[in-house]
Amino acid sequence: MNEKKRLFYMSQMGIQAWVAQGPVQSRNAIGADDYPPDKLPPADDVFKETSTVNNHIVKSLDELKRSVAACTLCDLHQTRTQTVFGTGHPAANWLIIGEAPGADEDRKGEPFVGRAGQLLTNMLHAIGLTRGEVFIANILKCRPPDNRDPRPPEVECCRPYLRQQINLIQPKIILALGRIAAQSLLNTDAPIGRLRGTKHTYEDTQIPIVATYHPAYLLRSPQQKRKAWEDLKFAFESMD
Ligand code: URA
Repeated sequence: MNEKKRLFYMSQMGIQAWVAQGPVQSRNAIGADDYPPDKLPPADDVFKETSTVNNHIVKSLDELKRSVAACTLCDLHQTRTQTVFGTGHPAANWLIIGEAPGADEDRKGEPFVGRAGQLLTNMLHAIGLTRGEVFIANILKCRPPDNRDPRPPEVECCRPYLRQQINLIQPKIILALGRIAAQSLLNTDAPIGRLRGTKHTYEDTQIPIVATYHPAYLLRSPQQKRKAWEDLKFAFESMD
């Protein structure tokens, strides 16, 4: 992505043009050029055998997606239109994790398709990434009714699915969007303000996790977009 476009997407994010100087600039420039889709392995080649979900060996994201679609582990299956497994490149360097599908996502079967999704797309563009070269998923694969917060037992039912997604994708960085995603991934109840700005790791792996604000929150509090931009740059620097 060229500089003009990047600045355009930053302005779409609602933040003043950031003109990088010094090391971060080169990282962003490298990032934009280093991870175009054609430098990732072909999607169909990505079949990694891993451990198990419910005692069943999962060999591919497609197979895992089918298990998720058939899931009845918690009550959310009774009210969903469909599951929202996640979309993107199956060997993405960036794994972006939100909270749970909303009404639009439940209808479409894809994550982040509403207004918050548009902002997320712009945020990704601002760091030189397209949706097709990252993978976007949620903590929960089914919509909680009335957009309420996910309940702890629901998070626990979905946890093995997310763990398998991470195992299969093997991202170089996980970006947790918002309090619920950050707290669930990091097994903590610390507030998002304290989780930001630190390079955490996922469970017993070395996969880095960086937390930032949820795009829906940024739509309500646009003055925080600059902090989110700092988080994105920090995530870039934290990549394995
Ligand atoms: N908010 C989320 O956390 N995830 C979505 O998929 C959409 C909105």
